[in-house]
This record gives sequence, C-alpha cells and structure tokens, in this order.
Amino acid sequence: MIQINNDACIGCGRCAYDCFPGAITVTEKAELSNPAACIGCGHCVAICPVAAVSYDGLPADDVMPSEKNVSPERMLGLMRSRRSCRHYKTLPLPDTVLNSLLQAARACPTARNLQATRFIAVRDKIPELLDLALDTLGRIGQTQRETAADPSEIRRAENFIRWQEQRRTDPNFDPLFFHAPQLLIFVSPKDAVFDAAAAAAYTELMAASLDLGCLYSGYFTACAAMSPEIRDLLGIGETEQLVRCLVLGYPDVAYPRTAPRNLPQVTYL
Ligand SMILES: Cc1cc2nc3c(=O)[nH]c(=O)nc-3n(C[C@H](O)[C@H](O)[C@H](O)COP(=O)(O)O)c2cc1C
Ligand code: SF4
Ligand code: SF4
Repeated sequence: MIQINNDACIGCGRCAYDCFPGAITVTEKAELSNPAACIGCGHCVAICPVAAVSYDGLPADDVMPSEKNVSPERMLGLMRSRRSCRHYKTLPLPDTVLNSLLQAARACPTARNLQATRFIAVRDKIPELLDLALDTLGRIGQTQRETAADPSEIRRAENFIRWQEQRRTDPNFDPLFFHAPQLLIFVSPKDAVFDAAAAAAYTELMAASLDLGCLYSGYFTACAAMSPEIRDLLGIGETEQLVRCLVLGYPDVAYPRTAPRNLPQVTYL
C-alpha cells in the first residue's frame, strides 16, 4: 500500500495525473481516495518530484533515481551480441551476481502489476534434475518413435533415447545444462505465464551485460511439464507452471561477431 507524506506534498498533481486506475485525488494535497483501485504499480512513487510517496513493505532504499543512460546503439549492441551459451566454466556463480539477475527479473512489467512470478535458484540439485529430465526425454522418445511419421521427428525421438542411455553409462554427459553451475527457474500461476517469460528475457539481457553465459533450456521446461517427479523436487504446485529455465554460468566460449538473423517481416498499415 502506498503512503503519502502530507507535509512533503506540494500538491503538484502529477501522481493523480499518472495514476491510471484513478486511485489518487489532489485538491491541495494528494490523497489516496480510492485505495481499492490501487494496483501497486508505484508510478506515484516514481513521478513525485519531492519523494512524498512511499510504498509499504519494501526497504526504504529500494527506490532509486531513474537511470536510462544507455545509448540505443549500446542497447541494441548488447541485444545482438548475447548468444545462447553451451560451454561453461566450472566456476560457481557468486550470490551477488545471482542477486543482480533477480533484480533484473523483478524489474519487468507484469499484467495488472501482479508480479506473480517466483524463482527457484538451483545449484546442488542440478545432477538430480538432469537425471530426471533425461529419463523423461527417454520416455518421450520411446512414445514418439512409435507414433511419429516425419523422419526428422523419428530422428529426434531416437536422439532422446540415445541421450538417456548415454547418461546412464557416462555421468559426465550433459546435453541439457552443459555443466553449468546454476539454473534459474521461473515459475508462475498458470494464468500469468507471459509475465514469467518476460522476466526471463530481462534476466537473459542482464546476464549478457554481466558477461555471463546464459541459455534457455526449452528441453528441461518440456520435461518439467511431463514429469511429476521434477515438479515435486522443485516444489511446483498444481496451480503453477514452470515457464522458463535459464542455464547460467561463466562462459567458456566467446563470439567476436553477432549472429545473422532474418530481416524483420513487418506489415505496415
Ligand atoms: C524458449 C527457448 C527455448 C530454448 N531451448 C533450448 C534448449 O533446450 N537447448 C538449447 O541448446 N538451446 C535452446 N534454446 C536456444 C536457441 O536454440 C537459440 O536461441 C537459437 O538457436 C538462436 O541462437 P542465439 O540465442 O545464440 O542467438 C532455446 C531458446 C529459447 C528462446
Ligand atoms: S501505486 Fe499506482 S495505482 Fe496505486 S496509487 Fe500509485 S499510481 Fe495509482
Ligand atoms: S506528485 Fe508528490 S507532490 Fe505532487 S501531488 Fe502527488 S504526492 Fe504531492
């Protein structure tokens, strides 16, 4: 809930102007006249020129001066230069770095400002998850090999079966997480999965700015959807969904150039 410091308020009206659900009115001073309408977006905190508005439940220093001092060229350069990383050093990710990634994740927009995404940071249980995921992929492969008609689908199914078998004989084999030391898993209520996907995108860009290696594991995400054992191990509830899994660590690979991309297909109306 927001708090307005009456003594500090100069009645400029900016908070009411930008409160899109209309929760604030300003006569001489600002007043939270319709608290039920407030979605906790914090625009009133952000826009007030005299810092008269604060937000309960967060540390006082959580709000910081706005910082948009990144040139479009550097922003685009970072976006185009980040790559999916499949070669990691064995160095662990320090907690401070993990915390920077979480700060990026929480900064993203969410529908109705729900902020319902939660995060699971996995280190010690990576080998266990890898075993469960490869067993799941093996099972998916067995089913798909019998039902698939398309040769590329059959090849993919056989790959999954081979991965499972190889993992059983070689505990070093890791075609999903590539020996990375850290996973960051994005979990959300089933009706808010787009928010979790956006949070992961923010996090991936932050990882690029920190010179980390990062990879979306779509395979692991698919396995989690098919495996109650994975969801149990991670403590994911019935009403929740594992939306994204980011594989993170220090990269053991460097890319001096960006990768090619199709030109954008745009319809101008
Ligand atoms: C949602 C999503 C899921 C992905 N899943 C995997 C995966 O399971 N394994 C993998 O090696 N790469 C995965 N990728 C990485 C893509 O293959 C990669 O983004 C694409 O080939 C382009 O390469 P770049 O990210 O280096 O530009 C995934 C990417 C996204 C966005
Ligand atoms: S937090 Fe957002 S919705 Fe709530 S009063 Fe402030 S501007 Fe309005
Ligand atoms: S923006 Fe700040 S100073 Fe202006 S009316 Fe709102 S609370 Fe008062």
